[in-house]
Amino acid sequence: MKEQLVVLKEQALEKLEEQSTLQQLGDWKATYLGKKGELTAALRGMKDLSAEERPVIGALVNEVREALEQALEAREEDMRRQEREKRLREETVDVTLPGRNVPLGSEHPLNRLIREAEEIFLGLGFQVAEGPEVETDYNNFGALNVPKNHPARDMQDTFYISEDMLLRTQTSPVQGRVLRANVEAAKQRGETSPQPVRIIAPGRVYRRDDDDATHSHVFMQIEGLVVDRNIRMSDLKGILTLFTQQMFGADVSIRMRPSYFPFTEPSTEVDVTCYSCGGEGCRICKQTGWIEILGAGMVHPNVLEMAGYDPEEFTGFAFGMGVERMAMRRYGIEDIRHFYTNDVRLMSQFKSRV
Ligand code: DAH
Repeated sequence: MKEQLVVLKEQALEKLEEQSTLQQLGDWKATYLGKKGELTAALRGMKDLSAEERPVIGALVNEVREALEQALEAREEDMRRQEREKRLREETVDVTLPGRNVPLGSEHPLNRLIREAEEIFLGLGFQVAEGPEVETDYNNFGALNVPKNHPARDMQDTFYISEDMLLRTQTSPVQGRVLRANVEAAKQRGETSPQPVRIIAPGRVYRRDDDDATHSHVFMQIEGLVVDRNIRMSDLKGILTLFTQQMFGADVSIRMRPSYFPFTEPSTEVDVTCYSCGGEGCRICKQTGWIEILGAGMVHPNVLEMAGYDPEEFTGFAFGMGVERMAMRRYGIEDIRHFYTNDVRLMSQFKSRV
């Protein structure tokens, strides 16, 4: 019996070494230490022993059991440690490796110019408004003092979607939207007069045009509208002077020429000194020394009235500038079509600042 136990112990320990997973260790435990295991069988055999032998063998059985349990525990601990180490090895992150490069896009030059213009106008107390590109005929023309069949419609060849819907030919329809929303808001609050307005509205516009170096059937404008009490033409000139100097440099002058727009009276077109020759006269400014960047004027009383503003109480000025013109001037881009062909060789020169 004694020898049997010694052999059992040795065999068990030997087998234990051969087990290599926790699962296998479990099986080993059942075989040697479990209820139906060999050691239990040995214990059962004790009933045939003599009274002297029994305590000796009993002690030995306990000793063997303890030895096996300890060995098992050690083996388990060992295995867990190995598995932990293996996992750590597999999951190692080398923090000294260079990061993966995420290719960053660039800001479209038109968006960049609009953002810069917004920053300037926000600094002058303006807010940014928006309107849809698919507009009603009324907002694009009627509310701007251009009724149906008015000859001024010929100035802007229009993409019609239906009789009454079109792709807006200008950002000016935002004027009526903002004014009417203010009138509505005043009504809601029970106030007699609507709030003053000081907004710009950048956005895309469409005209039926043949594309060439200076024309595109889709382009962008920034509309401006200021309506308040006692707004004068000199306020328009002051704001535009501040804007152009911040946008193009302090040495730039502006010049206002009389013009005609149905929604302003008087109306003006505004030029800035030519960026190429500085005013001397060159090919780019067609020898005039000036480049036109916007149309503007004092808001026509009819426009105020149609929106619900009393033209006796309020006056205002408005302007609409060509974003491509300004971007071409500011970034030295020679062909308007570059803005819409999205050649990465051009675009990647406008890496965003973020
Ligand atoms: N909407 C005009 C155009 O596209 C530009 C313009 C002229 C806008 C005078 C204005 C303005 O707000 O007052 O040709």
